[in-house]
Amino acid sequence: MSPTENEEHTMVDAQRLLSREMDIDRPCAARIYDAFLGGGHNFGVEREFAERLQAAMPGVAGVFRENRAFLRRTVEHLLARGVRQFVELGSGIPTIGHVHEVALRRTRRFSVLYVDNEPLTVAHSRPLLDDEPRAAIIHADIREPEAILRSPEAADLIDFEQPVALVMSAVLHFLDDADDPLRLVRTYQDAVAPGSALMISHLTGSEEPEPMNLLTAFYSETADPMVARPAEWIAECFAGFEPQAPGACYIGDWRPEPDQPAHRHPRYRIMHGGVARKPR
Ligand SMILES: C[S@@+](CC[C@H](N)C(=O)[O-])C[C@H]1O[C@@H](n2cnc3c(N)ncnc32)[C@H](O)[C@@H]1O
Repeated sequence: MSPTENEEHTMVDAQRLLSREMDIDRPCAARIYDAFLGGGHNFGVEREFAERLQAAMPGVAGVFRENRAFLRRTVEHLLARGVRQFVELGSGIPTIGHVHEVALRRTRRFSVLYVDNEPLTVAHSRPLLDDEPRAAIIHADIREPEAILRSPEAADLIDFEQPVALVMSAVLHFLDDADDPLRLVRTYQDAVAPGSALMISHLTGSEEPEPMNLLTAFYSETADPMVARPAEWIAECFAGFEPQAPGACYIGDWRPEPDQPAHRHPRYRIMHGGVARKPR
């Protein structure tokens, strides 16, 4: 499907802003997610992909909504325990209940650094954060932790001497095994102060291999192919940190709320995750 005139205008603006090449012919993860959440930051190519995926996996939208609900519960949990700084790695577009919006409901004392490597996602996100001095997005690849941790935006927003929540929500499964995502997680864990937190959600086929296989097959035709990993691998990411009960598990089972629709009617148990704190 070809882009509308408005979409083309946004693309030209973004091309001026960012030098990195964009791939707008294939659906990308950030805008697929946005389409499933009912957002307005997606193109025809993502909407068409979402329709086909939904037809093949009825109820798959619940996976996206459930992950966003897990993000909210974990951020609320950390805010309630005094964490005020968040670095979200692979943030997508910060709308529809994203980290700074969850924080704003509770406090005005917070800061959020969003990071994404998809140029148009970053271009779409910047105007959304224009009026929020406590949040910013940078265009960077999470496989380059130094560039992120030493960025001017990080220096402005994040005090690494104080606890920081590292949010890796639905992002590590976009890294190839050759990227050694576990080593990468360790690098970020080492960079933060005692009392910091690690939140992860990740695709797995440990409970339900069939829907996981279908989802990865669909995503193999996108700009962001996915690699599902065993539940044990996801739990291993938290090693050395203190798990917050109930530990790494199917995300719908992580401190569910009784009125949470996605949990009442879980369709596909293909995302595992949890939260853990760095010992003081
Ligand atoms: C499915 S979205 C998840 C968005 C958000 N974390 C959430 O859970 O709501 C995954 C995001 O990770 C980004 N991403 C994938 N690989 C990345 C990388 N190597 N560095 C930075 N961002 C990456 C994608 O561009 C996309 O925006």
